[in-house]
Amino acid sequence: MAALDDLAFDPWDPAFVADPYPAYAELRERGRVHWFEPTDQWLVAHHADVSALLRDRRLGRTYQHRFTHEEFGRTAPPPEHEPFHTLNDHGMLDLEPPDHTRIRRLVSKAFTPRTVERLKPYVTRLAEDLVSALVEAGGGDLLKDVAEPLPVAVIAEMLGIPESDRAPLRPWSAEICGMYELNPPEETATKAVRASVEFSDYLRGLIAERRENPGDDLISGLIAAHDEDDDRLTEQEMISTCVLLLNAGHEATVNSTVNGWWALFRNPDQLAALRADHSLVPSAVEELMRYDTPLQLFERWVLDEIEIDGQVIPRGAEIAMLFGSANHDPAVFTDPSRLDLTRRDNPHISFSAGIHYCIGAPLARIELAASMTALLEKAPGLRLAAEPRRKPNFVIRGLEGLAVDVG
Ligand code: HEM
Repeated sequence: MAALDDLAFDPWDPAFVADPYPAYAELRERGRVHWFEPTDQWLVAHHADVSALLRDRRLGRTYQHRFTHEEFGRTAPPPEHEPFHTLNDHGMLDLEPPDHTRIRRLVSKAFTPRTVERLKPYVTRLAEDLVSALVEAGGGDLLKDVAEPLPVAVIAEMLGIPESDRAPLRPWSAEICGMYELNPPEETATKAVRASVEFSDYLRGLIAERRENPGDDLISGLIAAHDEDDDRLTEQEMISTCVLLLNAGHEATVNSTVNGWWALFRNPDQLAALRADHSLVPSAVEELMRYDTPLQLFERWVLDEIEIDGQVIPRGAEIAMLFGSANHDPAVFTDPSRLDLTRRDNPHISFSAGIHYCIGAPLARIELAASMTALLEKAPGLRLAAEPRRKPNFVIRGLEGLAVDVG
């Protein structure tokens, strides 16, 4: 185990957030597991370890299916945070089997590669319309004009959220996602609680309405499953599932789009190669997700003692897996700090692995390819108009905006 006092790993330091990859390289060189006092977590930075731990059933996204907070040596969250936790803890991402299996089975039908493939013409048209509007305007903010509206519209459409109701989805999601950063301050919790209450109330109303007037959307499908057999999906699970899908269904896609284009602007030779050969789009999408990993860290609770490199990690401990580091591990990726859009062997971990592997990966890939293709075809001269500002967040890695010219 290495002490981190003299390391550059500091998730609250803007310089680290701007470019965490050199600090990861140092972490990987110094050992396989590191105790990080500020968050009481064990950091794991190598691809092989992250990949194995994600599949290890001795770890879990939650412990509450097996232990009380007291039994696990943890304190319950304060009662005023309860609305956030009720919402969060009933979504499949924060459940373990058997609840996770039951909910994931129901939802996954809507996200199989075949089902999602049918959305391709709609996603393509949407991407083309958004890019055409950007071109007509002579440029704009790639984040606000393309990256954000595309996945928000797609997931809202799938769930059957009326267009007139969509404006608060982004702010609700952003406020809830603030809780996924390390040691979030009380102000973040207050906002997340308020957003959780409002979002849940909204969905409760929509679910009641769809129960009366079902459509061919996912919410109506979940209601049908719920009504067929009472314990298939509770009302709370339905609300939590919808919020999870709406949030997870756009946050990382938005960030991947702008992180990706910023990486392309910083690597003009790669952008030129892509412009010259649009058949590189699929491998470019994968490489950009590896190169600047949109979700940098995921946590797991240790449910049963494990050992990493001789270090015993007891039940009740928490492990933080550094996805951005795993994606830059030279043991797996040749020349990892090089952006190589032709990279063939690219087992990046950006969509996770094991039972929580991203259910939306096929959809995300379609969305990212659609916006990239539309931008290459309709805005062949797209260029950076101003240096973007990074969001201060470490875990959910994104930009405040990406100003572009189409000239
Ligand atoms: C580039 C875009 C995306 C990235 C990088 C991403 C990444 C991830 C990751 C890393 C996880 C697992 C976290 C863990 O293991 O703890 C996950 C889970 C999940 N993602 Fe995505 N995601 C993306 C897009 C989407 C989309 C478009 C949807 C739409 C439905 C979605 C829905 C979900 C859901 C529901 C889960 C929970 C799965 C489970 O717990 O079984 N994601 N995603």
